[in-house]
Amino acid sequence: MALIQWKDDFSVQVKAFDTHHKRLIDLINGLHDSMLTGKHQETLGKTLKELHDYTRYHFGEEERLMTQHGFEGYRAHKLQHDNFVAKVQECIRKYETSRLTMTIDIMNFLRDWLKDHIFGTDKRYSGFFGSRGVA
Ligand SMILES: [Fe+2]
Ligand SMILES: [Fe+2]
Repeated sequence: MALIQWKDDFSVQVKAFDTHHKRLIDLINGLHDSMLTGKHQETLGKTLKELHDYTRYHFGEEERLMTQHGFEGYRAHKLQHDNFVAKVQECIRKYETSRLTMTIDIMNFLRDWLKDHIFGTDKRYSGFFGSRGVA
C-alpha cells in the first residue's frame, strides 16, 4: 500500500507544481516499497539520489516563480526548502558512509514533511499565483 496517496485537495492550483508533487509522492512511495520488500539496499541509494535531485529541481522552480512575481513569503519558504534538502543530503551521507537502513521513522519524516509543506506552505502561494494569472 502506498505511503502517500494523491488526493484532489493536495492541489496547489499550479498545474506544473501539482505534477512535481505527484512525482515526489511517487519517489517517496518507491522508497517505502523498497523498504517493505527488503530490496532497499540495492535501490535505496539510487532512489534517495533521485529524490534529492528532483526535490532540488522542484524547489528551484517554485523559488524561480516566487522571485519572478515578487512573492513576499519567498524567504521563509526558501528556508524550509533548504532545510529539507539538507536533511535529504544527510540521509545520503549516512547511506554512503554507513549503509543507512531505511526505517519507518525516516519514511514517516519524508511523508509528513511533504504533506505539511504542501498544505501549510505551498498552498499559501495558490491565491497569489492565481491573482497573477499563473495556473
Ligand atoms: Fe515549496
Ligand atoms: Fe512544492
